[in-house]
Amino acid sequence: MAFIADALSRVKPSPTIAVTTKAAELRAAGVDVIGLGAGEPDFDTPDNIKEAAIKAIQEGQTKYTPADGTPAVKQAVCTKFARDNGLKYEPNQITVNNGGKHTIYNAFVATLNPGDEVIIPAPYWVSYPDMTLLAGGEPVFVEATIENNFKMTADQLEAAITDNTKWVIINSPSNPSGAAYNHDEMKALTDVLLKYPHVWVMSDDMYEHIVYDDFDFVTPAQVEPKLYDRTLTINGVAKAYAMTGWRIGFAGGPVELINAIRKVQSQSTSNPCSISQAAAVEALAGTQDFLAPRAEAFKKRRDLVVGMLNEAEGLSCITPEGAFYVYPSCAGVIGKKTPDGKVIENDLDFCTYILESEGVAAVHGEAFGLSPHFRVSYATSEEALTDACTRIQRACAALT
Ligand SMILES: Cc1ncc(COP(=O)(O)O)c(C=O)c1O
Repeated sequence: MAFIADALSRVKPSPTIAVTTKAAELRAAGVDVIGLGAGEPDFDTPDNIKEAAIKAIQEGQTKYTPADGTPAVKQAVCTKFARDNGLKYEPNQITVNNGGKHTIYNAFVATLNPGDEVIIPAPYWVSYPDMTLLAGGEPVFVEATIENNFKMTADQLEAAITDNTKWVIINSPSNPSGAAYNHDEMKALTDVLLKYPHVWVMSDDMYEHIVYDDFDFVTPAQVEPKLYDRTLTINGVAKAYAMTGWRIGFAGGPVELINAIRKVQSQSTSNPCSISQAAAVEALAGTQDFLAPRAEAFKKRRDLVVGMLNEAEGLSCITPEGAFYVYPSCAGVIGKKTPDGKVIENDLDFCTYILESEGVAAVHGEAFGLSPHFRVSYATSEEALTDACTRIQRACAALT
């Protein structure tokens, strides 16, 4: 009898963490490595949020809280959804969890039965397929290619729906492509979903506040109120508020689903950290003034990176609407030879080549389900980005 559960054999470890580990090993061995793999802002958590956490400690908010969040944090989440998304939720429609990742995992555990399908547009955030598998479901991939700006079309969505479809995931702006659906593009998808009442919508809005060029962020339940009763609108404080380590994610949705998620959470992790919940209240209900300047700083970096990558021989990079990632195609280097005589067969070979020859750590596209591409996170300084892109240009120029 095997000791490790069969379910785990369906799951692979996170490939983004693998790249970070390899880069750290090279760095420890004295190699000058620039990491473009990180999925977190380099900015610090704003002071007002830190102070709210310190105050919570001093006031003794150090005990268990209700399993899926304090009344105060649930109220702050309701305020956020009303203010930013025009969505009216009551506190009993809110769940607060240990990061957005935990929100998604809880929702899958609470709803998936064997054979249930989850439609996942590719390129996708690496955890969606594995969390689906761990919870007993089946991922169904839809390729959102560069020709369509990495966006799933209405026809593609409709073709992927079967009687077994339980969820479709919409992640806009996307990790890893940065692509975001505008109102009309989202409406085209929600129009399809209106025809299939058994399909639920999981909207992962984690990068909502990191959008550029006056892009108007929209979320499915806002664009199509008729979907409100079968949509889980997920968000968190990690990316916009630079709070990745605090581990707070949340969602709004129908009471029955929220109660089911609470049941899962109450028998697994219990409440998210009480102090982080107090900090999240300040993040969500306090000043939002720093969001725009931070998005502006990310936009400058996006423009720098897109410009420089497009100058690299064999690479081509479209300009995404949001998040802090670009997802260039490396189709033009496939089949070329490195100075060591090795043929670049795929995007993993290319990423290995730029890591070993120039010390640039990026994640290969296969990890996100769409090749030949690679993901560059530009959540680092302009100086480091300029250096990294110069190195990538040099590596590309050395291929024959
Ligand atoms: C698309 C997407 N969803 C969810 C998450 C999870 O965020 P959290 O840190 O809140 O768990 C991430 C983090 O990388 C992400 O990129």
